[in-house]
Amino acid sequence: MPVQQTLADRQKLHSLKMGSPVNLYFGVPYCIQTDPGKCGYCLFPVEVFSGNIDLEIYFDYLRREAAMYKDFLKDIPLGAVFFGGGTSNLYKETKYGELMDLVRQLFPVIPEYVDITLEGIPQLFTREKIKAIKDAGMNRISMAFSR
Ligand SMILES: C[S@@+](CC[C@H](N)C(=O)[O-])C[C@H]1O[C@@H](n2cnc3c(N)ncnc32)[C@H](O)[C@@H]1O
Ligand code: SF4
Repeated sequence: MPVQQTLADRQKLHSLKMGSPVNLYFGVPYCIQTDPGKCGYCLFPVEVFSGNIDLEIYFDYLRREAAMYKDFLKDIPLGAVFFGGGTSNLYKETKYGELMDLVRQLFPVIPEYVDITLEGIPQLFTREKIKAIKDAGMNRISMAFSR
């Protein structure tokens, strides 16, 4: 079903007070190279990270996509946010605030109980990065020891 139709249906349900909150998922389709590739088993759509420019270009697409969804999501409550992957903690410290700005563009009011999770790999979670993630308003991190 086309995305526009799905969003229009959600708006209609919401106007009838029968809607449910929206959960947002932002992917980052890059990972540090592994041997064997893709951690040897991963089925997620990722490419080998080749530098910060990848993330900047991808972020620009996220920004443009968020702008397209803005009107459709107006007045719909937010259920949860998940920054997944790939590897979402490849971003530099300054970017987590910008990611949350995108979320706030779509959902200006974020209740305290909303889980906002960022997923990543342990070796990229520096103390500075965790602080930047927290300061940005994210309140949960998720990681596994798969590599
Ligand atoms: C897609 S990764 C993203 C976060 C990070 N890159 C990582 O490896 O933890 C999220 C989780 O999915 C798991 N995963 C990836 N491919 C899987 C598969 N084919 N079956 C089950 N779990 C998988 C990983 O082990 C990891 O715990
Ligand atoms: S780091 Fe995570 S997302 Fe990336 S290839 Fe490995 S399991 Fe998949």
